[in-house]
Amino acid sequence: MTNLIEISKLQNAIDDELHKSLDQSLNDYPAEYISMLHYQLGWQGDKSGPEVQGKRIRPLLVLLACHACGGDWRNALPASAAVELVHNFSLIHDDIQDKSITRRGRQTVWVKWGEAQAINAGDAMLTTSYLALFRLQPFLAQAMMIQAIQLLQSACLTLTRGQYLDIAFEDKNDLPMDLYWQMVEGKTGALLAACLGLGSLIGMAEESQWKKLMDFGYKIGAAFQVQDDWLGIWGNGQQTGKSTITDLVSKKKTYPVLLGILNRQDFFREWQTLTEVTEEEALRLAKLLDAEGCAHKTNQKFEQLYAEAFELLDDMNLDFERVEPLKRVIRGLFDRAK
Ligand code: IPE
Ligand code: IPE
Ligand code: MG
Ligand code: MG
Repeated sequence: MTNLIEISKLQNAIDDELHKSLDQSLNDYPAEYISMLHYQLGWQGDKSGPEVQGKRIRPLLVLLACHACGGDWRNALPASAAVELVHNFSLIHDDIQDKSITRRGRQTVWVKWGEAQAINAGDAMLTTSYLALFRLQPFLAQAMMIQAIQLLQSACLTLTRGQYLDIAFEDKNDLPMDLYWQMVEGKTGALLAACLGLGSLIGMAEESQWKKLMDFGYKIGAAFQVQDDWLGIWGNGQQTGKSTITDLVSKKKTYPVLLGILNRQDFFREWQTLTEVTEEEALRLAKLLDAEGCAHKTNQKFEQLYAEAFELLDDMNLDFERVEPLKRVIRGLFDRAK
């Protein structure tokens, strides 16, 4: 019976909760201010609707982790809204930091409203995420509430460390793999792990289960980011809704680039000589990386990471039916095109 959980029902409930969380905090704010946040969440502006709202994978993971541990997913809705708000805060700021002009197939917030207002919109998104968490109060004892706040705050802090490393590494030609994984843990792993942590906390998981689900979240984060690195070079920009040359132009130390550096072949020789990468050179570098097997190896890497994540989950012996929707959603990520 529990296996029949409908993902679309959860997605609608997440959208409702996001609306409630924002409306409660911003009810008498200027319309233009609210419109920046509504635009980022895909509720306003051109093409508004599910296509430009993002995959909403993080809030779904919160609810499905709660369900997998035997809890009622409805109790976890405030936490699901909170993580999606944190995620969107990070995207608004990330697009400024990466000078990205397109996100989800539309102009980024900073392109539409300028950097100064986009920073403010990101700050608002982050702050409303804390307030959204307080809506957990009817469902959670105070001690657990504090634990939930601590969990999300720590993830936010780790995320900024990841972003720090990502930006700092732009100026370096090379990067040891262990620093890449540290960067990824911050950029992507920490928030995904927090999703699993929050969901299982609210689902009243035992401490050992809670820790294992967090590990699973970190592993999914690593897989997801390596896949994002692949999509950022060889994905279809129409589908990803993001530019496919920005990472190379900014000399980001993505997984395929690090493989290309380790290869010490033509890619490496060109890469080393370039201080500025033009769009034309970026396209050429992408071809060299592919020819040197880096696209294929990147693919293999994220497949391996997803497989390792599944092993972690299987080792937990969670109720078969209750964990199935979580597995189904993760399986859906394996061959994502966006
Ligand atoms: C993009 O995350 C940023 C990364 C951490 C790789 P998503 O791919 O989940 O973005 P949306 O919300 O679906 O647009
Ligand atoms: C996104 O990193 C991570 C955060 C926003 C914290 P990227 O810069 O690699 O992701 P995209 O490709 O812009 O979504
Ligand atoms: Mg970016
Ligand atoms: Mg970035």
